[in-house]
Amino acid sequence: MAGITDAAFLNKVIPFGFDVATLGGFNLDEPTIEASGKILERGRKEFHFPKNLIFTHIANEASSIKDKNDDVKVSVNVRSTTPNPIIRLDEIEDLDIIEINCHCRQPEFLEIGCGQNMLQRNDLGEFISEVVDNVSKEVSVKIRANVVDDLAVCRIIQDSGADYLHVDAMKPGVFDADYELLTRLCSNLDIPVIGNNSIDSEEKIIKMLNTGISGFSIARAVISGKLDFNISDF
Ligand SMILES: Cc1cc2nc3c(=O)[nH]c(=O)nc-3n(C[C@H](O)[C@H](O)[C@H](O)COP(=O)(O)O)c2cc1C
Repeated sequence: MAGITDAAFLNKVIPFGFDVATLGGFNLDEPTIEASGKILERGRKEFHFPKNLIFTHIANEASSIKDKNDDVKVSVNVRSTTPNPIIRLDEIEDLDIIEINCHCRQPEFLEIGCGQNMLQRNDLGEFISEVVDNVSKEVSVKIRANVVDDLAVCRIIQDSGADYLHVDAMKPGVFDADYELLTRLCSNLDIPVIGNNSIDSEEKIIKMLNTGISGFSIARAVISGKLDFNISDF
């Protein structure tokens, strides 16, 4: 969660039983850094670092997590208009997963073809493959559901060689995930699907697991730094 999920926050919540901790989202190139500056100006939280400091910052953040939790995979959620800045993250030893953000919907990112508008790029598959082919880390692609033809775009992501498909299964108008969509994706794809959206109870974890997902992620329910339910059993 931009402006929230830094190492200090993640070190506090990892003990609830998480086996992957995602830093960010961070902006890696001039256009995305400029866009994040505009987002900050209108009062929304963002992680905003100049290009010459961002890679060192991510490396330091990843180390602070690994120092305390060496059994947890560290992932970083990033935006960039081109693959090269994402590929550079491969140099960061303490990172395990690089997550390409095809998810955010702030207009400043959409205007430059980033966030969920990545899903409409004609070269989405080439963009992801370029990253996959040039890094030794695992690659995750995070999408927002119900924006484009999900199964078609997820097949492109799978064919590009990504290791994980992270799906914010947002269902417009309700505070619940689109379980039917997750079931459709899981039964038609071989790539591991990580389900996300609105998990705030053990019952919802069970509902999401029943769709066939390989894992789930939680954001808003941990913002307070507390969790009112137990995830270590799942
Ligand atoms: C304040 C805030 C900032 C967020 N920033 C990001 C981000 O930078 N990158 C991203 O992929 N998702 C971001 N998200 C989305 C969450 O990671 C998650 O996909 C979404 O909130 C749905 O999951 P939840 O119902 O468990 O919160 C953000 C969410 C919130 C509430």
